[in-house]
Amino acid sequence: MEFDGKVAIVTGGASGIGEAITTELAENGATVAIADLLEDVGRETARGLEARGLKAKVFPVDVSDAAQVESMVKSVVETYGGVDILVNNAGIGQRCAILEMAVEEWERVLAVNLRGNFLCSQAVGKEMVKQGRGGRIVSIVSTAAENARVNAGAYCASKAGILQFIRVLAQELGQYGITANAVGPGLTVTGSPLREPVSETYLGAFLKEVPLARPGSPKDIAQVVAFLASSKADYISGQVIYADGGYSAGKLSVRD
Ligand SMILES: NC(=O)c1ccc[n+]([C@@H]2O[C@H](COP(=O)([O-])OP(=O)(O)OC[C@H]3O[C@@H](n4cnc5c(N)ncnc54)[C@H](O)[C@@H]3O)[C@@H](O)[C@H]2O)c1
Repeated sequence: MEFDGKVAIVTGGASGIGEAITTELAENGATVAIADLLEDVGRETARGLEARGLKAKVFPVDVSDAAQVESMVKSVVETYGGVDILVNNAGIGQRCAILEMAVEEWERVLAVNLRGNFLCSQAVGKEMVKQGRGGRIVSIVSTAAENARVNAGAYCASKAGILQFIRVLAQELGQYGITANAVGPGLTVTGSPLREPVSETYLGAFLKEVPLARPGSPKDIAQVVAFLASSKADYISGQVIYADGGYSAGKLSVRD
C-alpha cells in the first residue's frame, strides 16, 4: 500500500475532517499519530481503527503551545522511530465582526491556526531533515484563505497566513526532499459534535455559489490530502488545491 512503513502525524486528527484524514492514511498503510487536544475523542478514533487492524494512537497536544508540540513530536519519534508525513489540520473557527472582536479572540484563532502550523511544521521539519529521507507537509487551509468572509476576520487572516507560510516552507525545505502543500476545503459537513452545525440559511446561501451544488464531505478532503502525501505528488510543492466543488472559481450568482 502507498503508505506502508510510513508514520504520519495528523493534528486535530480525532474528529471531523481530521478523523477522515487519519482514516484515509491508515487505510492506505500509514501508522497515524492523532495529535489532538481531545485525548478521549482521539483514543476512541484510534480504537475504532485498531479494531479494523489499522494503526493509530493518540498523542494529546495543544498545537498552539511550543513545549507541548515539541514533546508530542519527540514522543511520536520515540514510539515509531521517525515521522514521514505531517498534516496540519487542527483549526478553530470564529464568528465575530472585526469592530466587535476582543483581542483575545483574535489571538486565540491566530495562535491555534497559524502559530500551531508554524510550531508543528518546524518541529517535524527538523526531524525530517535529521532523518534524511525527505517528507511531506500538508496543511489544511480554507477557501477563506482567498475569499474574504464577513464575521471571520481572524480566521481568514490565519488561513491566508498559512498559505504564504507553506510557500516559504516549500522553498526552504525543498533541498531536503520535503514538500509543503495545502488543501483548501469549501463548506464541509462533518457531523462533528464539536462544531456548531451550519444553519439551513447559511448552507442555502453558500451552496448558491457552489457549481457542484453540494457541500463537501470529509472524505472529499481526505483523498486530496492523501494524494499530496503520496508518491504521485513527488514533484508538487508550494501549491494549494481547493476541494470546494468549484466555489473558488468565481461568483456563480453574477450573470449576464
Ligand atoms: N468544516 C469545514 O467546513 C471547513 C471548511 C474549510 C476549512 N476547514 C478547516 O479544516 C480543519 C478541520 O476542521 P473541522 O471542521 O474538521 O473542525 P472540527 O472542530 O470538527 O475538528 C477540529 C479538530 O482539531 C482539534 N483541535 C482544535 N484545537 C486544537 C488545538 N489547539 N490543538 C490540537 N488539536 C486541536 C479538535 O479537538 C478537533 O478534533 C480546520 O483547520 C478548519 O479550519 C473546515
